[in-house]
Amino acid sequence: MAIVTQKSTGTTWSDPERIAALLAPHGVLYERWGVEQLASTPRPEGVSVEDHILSVFAPEIERISKARGYQTADVIALTPETPNLDAICAKFDRHHFHTEDEVRFVVHGRGMFAVRGEDGDFYEVEVHPGDLLAVPEKMEHYFELCEDRTIQCIRLFTDMAGWVAHYTDEAASSGG
Ligand SMILES: [Fe+2]
Repeated sequence: MAIVTQKSTGTTWSDPERIAALLAPHGVLYERWGVEQLASTPRPEGVSVEDHILSVFAPEIERISKARGYQTADVIALTPETPNLDAICAKFDRHHFHTEDEVRFVVHGRGMFAVRGEDGDFYEVEVHPGDLLAVPEKMEHYFELCEDRTIQCIRLFTDMAGWVAHYTDEAASSGG
């Protein structure tokens, strides 16, 4: 389950209902999905890990996509063995925003999304398996891996082209 830390005060929250209520006024959706169903559903022979994950969570993906207009889903994984991991992380750990929601459901591992709230404060959301986080379009945020540098997520998109990082520390925006 997620842990949220308010950067200016160090206050933390770990109760899922409190976290959802805390983040909602800032436009951030937080949900828990039953990740244990992945462990209890054997992967059929010939089905890729990614397709199996999308199939297990198909009902949740369909529900949230209908409600919020998401069109596509995929599965990504980062591990210490991922080629160019440092370069990949360098794209995400700078402050940026997107012109569509950034939606992640954590299947394995963990990571930290820091989102800038309506109050200007940053809320660090450490996400764990079973956590769904939707950072709204235009919201300033950044992402960091944790010490184990391992995360596997479902990503949901409204439009693949919309998921481009616009960095807030420079005038020109660039891809990533
Ligand atoms: Fe992002």
